[in-house]
Amino acid sequence: MNQPVLGRNEKEYLARCIDSGWISSEGPAVQEFEEKMAKRVGRKHGIAVSNGSTALELAVRVLGLPEGTEVIMPSFTIISCAAAVVRAGLKPVLVDADPVHWNMDVRQLDDRVTARTRAIMVVHIYGLPTDMDMVLAFASRHNLRIIEDAAEMHGQTYRGRPCGGFGDVSTFSFYPNKHITTGEGGMVLTDADEIAARCRSLRNLAHSPARRFVHEELGFNYRLTNMQAALGIAQLERLDESVRKKRAMGQLYNEHFRAMPELELPPAKTDYADNIYWVYGMVLKDAVPIDASEMMARLAELHIGTRPFFWGMHEQPVFKKMGWFSGERYPVTARISRRGFYLPSGLGITEDQQHRVVKAVKQVLAGAR
Ligand SMILES: Cc1ncc(COP(=O)(O)O)c(C=O)c1O
Repeated sequence: MNQPVLGRNEKEYLARCIDSGWISSEGPAVQEFEEKMAKRVGRKHGIAVSNGSTALELAVRVLGLPEGTEVIMPSFTIISCAAAVVRAGLKPVLVDADPVHWNMDVRQLDDRVTARTRAIMVVHIYGLPTDMDMVLAFASRHNLRIIEDAAEMHGQTYRGRPCGGFGDVSTFSFYPNKHITTGEGGMVLTDADEIAARCRSLRNLAHSPARRFVHEELGFNYRLTNMQAALGIAQLERLDESVRKKRAMGQLYNEHFRAMPELELPPAKTDYADNIYWVYGMVLKDAVPIDASEMMARLAELHIGTRPFFWGMHEQPVFKKMGWFSGERYPVTARISRRGFYLPSGLGITEDQQHRVVKAVKQVLAGAR
């Protein structure tokens, strides 16, 4: 599904950690990685953490929003986003997905705002960013804080400005399917000194500055190791090349699938960004008599790995049990989560492998008519 590309520098920088004995989060590569990532996305601070989910936990928590106030966020996303909001004692308020590019449908934002709304969480989905001009104007109109989840957007820009550079606080994931991987890892980015200081404290158990092992509040161990950061530095060096590769990968799939009436494909571009195809997703049109899970099962029989789309937050059993989103409907999310899936789209994929995937998709669809 997703083979990472790791090379000579990854090996060399990792060997330096082992040779020097700097393997924990105290090592120098952590700060170097933080500074380089921050520079790349035009931020003042980067705070490296253990993964993209813990990055979100910190990003939401450090805003210090009053308990029970509302955070507007997409219904179509990974659970980490809503979990961070709920765990911080806040109320997630969902917005349905856009049927074309699957990001939060920003035309619906005004319908979801209440007197208790305090923040909006933007999550860029699969390869194209959310329309940030609309989000920024909306947030400014209603005086909202902005959390930008750029977990999937390394190397992507919005109108030329790097994703991960918007809002009060932004986050990345460095899981192996990302354009930069550290095995597991994440980062919080911000321009605000005090948000950065709070994140640094909370990621490391919130030791009191005056006396280690004395704690004024409960923190977490969300630290990233020096070894992971060393990998991250080498991966960041190849980011532009990785994005070029992903775009070529997306282009090849587009060329082969464009003429197929059964498929809704990701747009190659919008007026604000060119797709980076973090993953190459597709949605089966309603006329196709099988849904995504059946399609994926049939592709698996042909030895093609796939992954389903996200499952809507309003349909998550865990949130139903907690009493969230009862009776709420998000029809686009409900549809694409049942009819959408993504193809092998890792950085390590070869053109031959892609041709095999294309052939298999065509074969399954021909058999499903
Ligand atoms: C949009 C988004 N946010 C957050 C995460 C969580 O990142 P991690 O898997 O590093 O915890 C992911 C993971 O893929 C993601 O796609």
